[in-house]
Amino acid sequence: MTYQDTELIEKILQLKKQRNAVILVHNYQLGEVQDIADFVGDSLELSQKAAATDAEVIVFCGVHFMAETASILCPDKIVLLPDIHAGCPMADMITAEKLRQRKRELPDAAVVCYVNSTAEVKAESDICCTSANAVKVVESVNATEILFVPDQYLGHYIATKTNKKMILWPGFCHTHIRIRPEDITMRKREYPQAKAIVHPECRPEVIALADEVLSTGGMCRFARETEVEEIIVGTEIGIIYRLRKENPNKKFIPASEQAICPNMKQITLEKILWSLEDMAFEVKVPEAIRLKAKGAVDKMLEVV
Ligand code: 13P
Ligand code: SF4
Repeated sequence: MTYQDTELIEKILQLKKQRNAVILVHNYQLGEVQDIADFVGDSLELSQKAAATDAEVIVFCGVHFMAETASILCPDKIVLLPDIHAGCPMADMITAEKLRQRKRELPDAAVVCYVNSTAEVKAESDICCTSANAVKVVESVNATEILFVPDQYLGHYIATKTNKKMILWPGFCHTHIRIRPEDITMRKREYPQAKAIVHPECRPEVIALADEVLSTGGMCRFARETEVEEIIVGTEIGIIYRLRKENPNKKFIPASEQAICPNMKQITLEKILWSLEDMAFEVKVPEAIRLKAKGAVDKMLEVV
């Protein structure tokens, strides 16, 4: 660590205290950002932390929909996203207007919405889910037909685990589709003792080759608890930092070095400091939308 980094970190920690802020960090963030977190986790864990914190300010180191979820759950807190351009391209593959149109075509379907979506889309949905609880959420819905938005691959994975009729929105994650089935096959050949864990945003052909399909939080738990010493990791490579830090005696092999989410990498130590200095960029969901979206998020939190 350079002198500059140490100075930056000291300033962040000092200002964090003055502002009564908490720093929540997603598992895909840069290692140095993970290191200054109050909590590192997956989407579900982070929204649960946001809901429970008594800090006045939440600095969200992740992407826009995650900060929005925190704002939906904590209207009285100031939620800051250190780079307002850190978005999720998959969340932008659906709009509230397009969803309303599809709902008119499918009047009997319940809408289950992956948390990787805008507040407006959540507001049009019956219930939200994350990758950690998707199957459980879909099973909990009192309808036989489910319109699942926006990730077709997570939706496809759920469809293999439930008897519900799943109608899928054609969204996807640019980062996860970079992981190819050949990547898993090659890594397995190189490390024959290894177990492959993949995220449900991966393509079905990749999921078919995996030993476990897990959220990023599930991956961290699996790594801690397994006896296996070599693990092939099929998700965004930022998580490798945390896995190695927490399990120094195990070997973690990225399924593909191409699996990088550029949006997740927008958050840096400098931007976190500026964010706390200028109280920017505030993410706040308009009240009418927030109340509707909160209904869908709360329902999810009741299921898990
Ligand atoms: P997790 O909820 O599993 O952390 O996933 C979030 C995400 O954006 C995956 O691409
Ligand atoms: Fe969105 Fe994919 Fe990045 Fe996750 S990894 S934030 S789904 S673009």
